Amino acid sequence: MKQLAIIGGTGVDELEGLEIVQSHTPQTPFGVPSRAIQEGRLGDTRVFFLQRHGSPGAIPPHLINYRANMWALQSLGVDDIVAINAVGGINESMRPGALVIPDQVIDYTWGREHSFDDGADGGLMHIDFTEPYDRELRLALVAVAQTNRIPHEASGVHGVTQGPRLETAAEINRMARDGCDVVGMTGMPEASLARELGLAYACVCMVVNPAAGLGDLPISLETMRETLQREAAVVRRLLQQLLTRRYGG
Ligand code: HPA
Repeated sequence: MKQLAIIGGTGVDELEGLEIVQSHTPQTPFGVPSRAIQEGRLGDTRVFFLQRHGSPGAIPPHLINYRANMWALQSLGVDDIVAINAVGGINESMRPGALVIPDQVIDYTWGREHSFDDGADGGLMHIDFTEPYDRELRLALVAVAQTNRIPHEASGVHGVTQGPRLETAAEINRMARDGCDVVGMTGMPEASLARELGLAYACVCMVVNPAAGLGDLPISLETMRETLQREAAVVRRLLQQLLTRRYGG
């Protein structure tokens, strides 16, 4: 049976209903993960949970030790990862409250540790990233959402910016022209590091605000949080169903 881990983002600090069995803080060649990784049971199924921003939400997107996080999860025997990301909506049909299971990424981040490849062993890590998310895991999420009538977008382009500031209106216009549907700050290099390690990785985006220049109000953390709380409950339901159906709970 494959082992699933969930990476929580802004607004998803805990997995409600998770009965914690143990906490792990593995040392990795890249340092320690953002927070102790919780090992627990959700229903009858074993699952790991990591909050990428640490606790209490202290690590900004550009300073997250993505390499340590992914390495640590693999060292615990994780095969599959579902990442949760709060995002801004660019596509008109992806308004606050929408859940998007993206199938593509455009990476606008810079200066992050993007690879495990340090050139030391002479082997080049030219991973195939044509499809940045694991197709099977992504389609399993879509199927579970469909079966349980959880409203969702079954595809989308996830643009990932450097942050921590939000974007300008012109940047969002450019991203829309590039084909981005949603914008977040933490989707990369998480996804490509997972691929380098051979982990199956898929993502669920919760739209918490219209992207810069597209809404009537300035973007505030307050309004993001309200939407997040509502959406986090839906995402939990999605994850619970995924665990039951795919991981034997
Ligand atoms: N832009 C980037 N990251 C985000 C946003 C946004 O509008 N909302 C939540 N995370």
